[in-house]
Amino acid sequence: MIPNLTTRYLGLELRNPFIVGASPFSDNLTSCAALEEAGASAIVLRSLFAEQFELEQRALVHHTETSGESFSEAASYFPRYEEYQLGPDQYLRRIKSLKKLLRIPVIASLNGRELGSWVGCAQQFEDSGADAIELNLYQLATSPELDADQVEVEMLHIVRAVVSSVNIPVAVKLSPFHTTMTNFALALEQSGAAGLVLFNRFYQPDFNIEDLEVVPHLKLSDSSELLLRLRWLSIISPHAKSSLACSGGVHTAEDSIKAILAGAHGIQVVSALLKHGPAFLTVLLNGLRTWMTERGYVSVEEFRGAMNLKRCPDPAAHERANYIRILQSWRV
Ligand SMILES: Cc1cc2nc3c(=O)[nH]c(=O)nc-3n(C[C@H](O)[C@H](O)[C@H](O)COP(=O)(O)O)c2cc1C
Repeated sequence: MIPNLTTRYLGLELRNPFIVGASPFSDNLTSCAALEEAGASAIVLRSLFAEQFELEQRALVHHTETSGESFSEAASYFPRYEEYQLGPDQYLRRIKSLKKLLRIPVIASLNGRELGSWVGCAQQFEDSGADAIELNLYQLATSPELDADQVEVEMLHIVRAVVSSVNIPVAVKLSPFHTTMTNFALALEQSGAAGLVLFNRFYQPDFNIEDLEVVPHLKLSDSSELLLRLRWLSIISPHAKSSLACSGGVHTAEDSIKAILAGAHGIQVVSALLKHGPAFLTVLLNGLRTWMTERGYVSVEEFRGAMNLKRCPDPAAHERANYIRILQSWRV
């Protein structure tokens, strides 16, 4: 019997769990068609950033004011308007052209850290045909004045504002650095999130010790990054009512099976596809099918969450016990 790979993610019926995560793939229609052909069940566009709206507004002010105001230093850190791959209007056109081209769901990605007029763009995403929105709240809270609660309260405000402005489902792409992750995950659900994407990947700059410069670099992930996702999917999935997607470190069919065993409904893949090309999806799909057939699983739902911590009466004690055991296991 051929196993049934369908899964429900954000209320959408997907033909399998493999979703192309937010990435440059959405810049290229030919690549998107190839991804669908190879088996992708949905595609997330690269993000549209709140900073792009600020740039547009500043450009407007610049045109209408004669004083020649100078931008703040912080503003000068960001890319210039023309450096973004898709401006806001182009972004909406891209949603429309992807909807015309593809049969699989198209998920638009909105990326910001403070409540602002950019949130209104969610409505335009919906009007352009997006099937869902992935809201990315990427930020590094560096200010000594900012406490953890303030950061999370602001995030929940943003989620509520976006969710209330659209009729399509909204997923939130999270950072792994929240103090009480499960509590925050459930607060996001209560604020209307239809799904959680675990996790954002933080791009950490390196130091060049010759000329003492900070060097930004983008290194693709590897399977070792999956472990953080497995841990939190296992902890959160017994409590979550919304959909869960794993994002980060899925490079093999085995990785994807682990993510489903931990409780994921959707598996987002980016680095592996950038490395090996869209056809790699067939390797992932075949590997998943073979594993399921060998074990007699007829649907993904049958084993989803089978290794989460649902039956563990005290996950915190379980994790701490493992931590102590691992440290004690080393001998020199
Ligand atoms: C080149 C590149 C561009 C990306 N652009 C975005 C983006 O615009 N928005 C976003 O939420 N994530 C973006 N991501 C992050 C991915 O969606 C994904 O979360 C991350 O790469 C981890 O998945 P992976 O291990 O399969 O690569 C990007 C990743 C890469 C490599």
